[in-house]
Parts: sequence; C-alpha cells; structure tokens
Amino acid sequence: MEKGLTLLQDCRDFLHSLKMRSKYALFLVFVVIVFVFIEKENKIISRVSDKLKQIPQALADANSTDPALVLAENASLLSLSELDSAFSQLQSRLRNLSLQLGVEPAVEAAGEEEEEEGKEEPPRPAVAGPRRHVLLMATTRTGSSFVGEFFNQQGNIFYLFEPLWHIERTVSFEPGGANAAGSALVYRDVLKQLFLCDLYVLEHFITPLPEDHLTEFMFRRGSSRSLCEDPVCTPFVKKVFEKYHCKNRRCGPLNVTLAAEACRRKEHMALKAVRIRQLEFLQPLAEDPRLDLRVIQLVRDPRAVLASRMVAFAGKYKTWKKWLDDEGQDGLREEEVQRLRGNCESIRLSAELGLRQPAWLRGRYMLVRYEDVARGPLQKAREMYRFAGIPLTPQVEDWIQKNTQAAHDGSGIYSTQKNSSEQFEKWRFSMPFKLAQVVQAACGPAMRLFGYKLARDAAALTNRSVSLLEERGTFWVT
Ligand SMILES: *[C@@H]1O[C@H](CO)[C@@H](O)[C@H](O)[C@H]1NC(C)=O
Ligand SMILES: *[C@@H]1O[C@H](CO)[C@@H](O)[C@H](O)[C@H]1NC(C)=O
Ligand SMILES: *[C@@H]1O[C@H](CO)[C@@H](O)[C@H](O)[C@H]1NC(C)=O
Ligand SMILES: *[C@@H]1O[C@H](CO)[C@@H](O)[C@H](O)[C@H]1NC(C)=O
Ligand SMILES: *[C@@H]1O[C@H](CO)[C@@H](O)[C@H](O)[C@H]1NC(C)=O
Ligand SMILES: *[C@@H]1O[C@H](CO)[C@@H](O)[C@H](O)[C@H]1NC(C)=O
Repeated sequence: MEKGLTLLQDCRDFLHSLKMRSKYALFLVFVVIVFVFIEKENKIISRVSDKLKQIPQALADANSTDPALVLAENASLLSLSELDSAFSQLQSRLRNLSLQLGVEPAVEAAGEEEEEEGKEEPPRPAVAGPRRHVLLMATTRTGSSFVGEFFNQQGNIFYLFEPLWHIERTVSFEPGGANAAGSALVYRDVLKQLFLCDLYVLEHFITPLPEDHLTEFMFRRGSSRSLCEDPVCTPFVKKVFEKYHCKNRRCGPLNVTLAAEACRRKEHMALKAVRIRQLEFLQPLAEDPRLDLRVIQLVRDPRAVLASRMVAFAGKYKTWKKWLDDEGQDGLREEEVQRLRGNCESIRLSAELGLRQPAWLRGRYMLVRYEDVARGPLQKAREMYRFAGIPLTPQVEDWIQKNTQAAHDGSGIYSTQKNSSEQFEKWRFSMPFKLAQVVQAACGPAMRLFGYKLARDAAALTNRSVSLLEERGTFWVT
C-alpha cells in the first residue's frame, strides 16, 4: 500500500520534473536569444560611440571649411549624441554597480576612457585591495578538487565548487554542433554573473526550483567553506534533507541571499569548472571592467586521466573496459578514440591560445600541470597565488601540509587526502600498455605541448627510473 503511494508520488515527481525540464529548455532558448541580442547591441553601441569620439576630432581637423558639411554633421551628431549619452549612462550604472559590489574595476584599457570621467569618480576606499576573480579551468580527473582546495581553504576567498553542474544538469546539450556553442555561451554568462556575486542566476537551473531563495539542492555545498560558515549556515531544520550538506556541521537549507552577501563581503572570488572547454569564450569576461579575471588551466597526463576515468566513471567507459578484457580481436570503436582525441585537442587549443597571450589575456592566464602540483604542492600553490595577485595565508599552507603527506589514501573517488608525491604516477603500474598506446596516438600533440613523454614499450611504462615527465619551468608570463 505504502509502496503504491510512493510509486504514485514518484510518477508525479517525474512528470513534474519533465515539465520543469521543458520549461527550462524554453527559458534557456530565451536566455541564449537575449544574450545574442545583447552582444549585437553592445557591439553597435560601442561602434557608434567610438565613431562619435572620432567625429569632433575630424571636425577640428577639417576646421570647418564647408558650413553645409558642419550642418549635416551637426544633425547626425545630435541623434548620435543621444545614443552616446545613453551609453555613458549605462557605463556609469555599471561602474556604480561594481562600486556597490566592492569590485574595483580593472585598469581600463588605455585611451578608452576620457580623462574627465576619471576625475569625476569618487575616490575609492583605500583599504580594500583589488578584487580578483580566479577561474580554475580543468577537466574531470585532473586533480581539480584538490587544487580547488588551495583556494577554498583561504578565509578571504569566496569559493564555489562546480556551480555549472546545475546548468549541465537542467538542460542536456548534445556534444558538437550549434548546441555546444549555445552551451558555451550560457556557461560563460552564468560564470560572469557568479563572479559578480549574482548567485540568483543559479536558481533558474536548480531543480526543484528554489522558493524564497531557499534551496536544499545546491550542488556540493559541502565543498565550499563559504557556504558552510556563519552566517550562511543557518540553524538546522529538522526533516529537511540536504543531499550535498555541509561536512562539519549541520545547516538549514541554503539561503541564496545570505550566500550572495557573503560573496560580496569576501575579498576575492574563485571557482572551479570542468565544463568550460574553450578559453576564447572567456574573452568578454577578461575584458569586463567589473572583473579582474585570472584563469588557471589545470592539465594532467591524458593517460592518467583515462585510467582514472575508467575507474571513476566505469559505466561511461564500458566499451573501453570490454576492449581491454577482450583478448584482441575487436578493435576499439573509432568514435571512442575520436572523442578522446577531441578532448585532448580542445585542451591543447585552449592552452596554446593561453600561452600565446593575446592582448585580452595578457597576465591573466597560467597553465599548471597536475604532476607539478603533486610533486611540489606548496611551491605550486605559492606560484598560483602570486599569479592571482592574492597573498597566501598560513591557513592554506597548513592545509597543504596536512593533506599531501598522509600515509594512507583518503576514501572516496573525490578524495583529496593522499601522499601526493607518491600518488601522481601510480597509474603507470596498473595501466595495460595497449591502452597507453591508444592515448599516445590520439593525444600526441597535447602530450608534446605539456611535456608528457611517450612510453616506447610496456617495460618503459612500468620502469620507475624512466621519467615520463619533461621538466618544465612555470608556464606563465607576466
Ligand atoms: C581652426 O581655426 C581657428 C580659427 O578659426 C584657429 O585658431 C585654429 O588653430 C584652427 N585649427 C586648426 C586645427 O587648423
Ligand atoms: C548644433 O547642435 C547644437 C545642439 O547640440 C545647437 O545648439 C547648434 O545650434 C547646432 N548647430 C547648427 C549649425 O545647427
Ligand atoms: C551613480 O552614483 C552616483 C553617486 O552615487 C549618482 O549620482 C549617479 O546618479 C549614479 N548613476 C546612475 C546611472 O545610477
Ligand atoms: C534569507 O536571508 C535574507 C537576508 O538575511 C533574509 O532577509 C531572508 O528572510 C532569508 N530568507 C528566508 C526564507 O529565511
Ligand atoms: C610520501 O611519498 C614519498 C615518495 O614515495 C615518500 O618519500 C614520503 O616519505 C611519503 N610520505 C609519507 C608521509 O608517507
Ligand atoms: C629501467 O630503466 C633504466 C634506465 O633506462 C635501465 O637502466 C634499467 O635497466 C631499466 N630496468 C628494467 C627492469 O628494465
């Protein structure tokens, strides 16, 4: 009887979630369209505004030889200047907003801002240092949970663990094609709002929909200290079950308003994302005057990544497992190899763009190999903080000391507590050579770029005195 009831309830829930899903899909389409419009309009306005700034100059140069021309120019100037005033109002609103948020606008591109405008600005509070927005850009099984902790453990940083999970969850995107571009735009724009502490943007993607800005379904809340400390941790409410609850204490459901306030109070913002595939999509964030973006791209030997994924996501890698177990006859399905190659290439292309340091990315990009972090966690943490322009506190150093020298492996697939200098090349001794070969064939260009050496044969793969890692200095330029 009771079973029947719960079944009915389950059915209802399922139908409800289906309805929600289609609603989200509609919402998403709407969001994408709006983004496209906003982008277009932004471009038009800034182009018009650029023109406008040139016109008086041109007039002065011409020094008004032809009064008719001046008249005509004046006429068009009038309507243009209306547009321009709208534009400067918008700019001033943005500036006000960033001041409200305690965000120090990034150093504006030289020459873009007129000098008088700079003088009109009220002096900024001298105490608050410049706010940094750190994106830890990774893929799954590259040690990003561990490296993310470097930022999570510091008290003055508001850290979010994989907030984009909710977006991927709500509307599933097909890989490749227009949808992938669409999802990249949505990820990017949600990311931007999150960096601005607009956490409400996530609510649209949380199922079930939060009520009164209250949710029990914030993904991996427990992995974000900032969401589990006072005052964001409200008194525990009986019978409310949070799937991703805080680890060391019991809290009530997450009040998104409180979380957003905490975000604004903290000096810096950091988040980790394994769902941002292409660095070039981040250009608008790097150029947004309200943000001071720092991208840390974390990579790892693709052989190790595959070995780790086959354990962590066994279901998804069934065909690989079958191919390994099957003594020989069937080859691996081409589409699987293609997917592996695609993943490696997108990582390589992003890194190449980053290392090329185009103007919009200058000083904002750092490449980090997981293996270097594992061998020298403290040193790498210091480098990352130096790159981010944030002073490292003893809090983080202590955490690193405690968590990289544990004698025994921590439990769970997302465990971060391990003897890291022992751990990083464990995969070599359990990986069948033919699997390593497939990866080496598909990911050669990426491996070359990052300094992962190919193993020539099975003996080299398992021989401890053969290093598969080229020593590289730091991969960043200031
Ligand atoms: C334009 O004309 C004014 C006088 O009519 C003169 O003072 C000024 O130097 C001229 N400017 C240029 C750029 O020729
Ligand atoms: C040009 O526009 C200004 C208003 O912005 C107006 O005062 C002026 O008379 C106009 N000049 C001509 C020549 O129309
Ligand atoms: C921005 O803030 C200033 C001072 O706080 C105010 O005078 C101005 O009207 C604001 N601008 C906009 C567009 O809200
Ligand atoms: C969430 O926190 C805000 C800010 O303190 C408060 O105004 C609001 O009432 C809280 N919401 C709920 C449902 O308790
Ligand atoms: C961790 O592993 C390294 C390398 O094998 C070893 O030298 C070190 O003693 C280990 N540390 C602990 C705490 O087990
Ligand atoms: C491991 O590699 C080293 C250096 O290349 C070599 O001298 C040694 O013989 C190898 N050991 C085995 C067991 O193959």
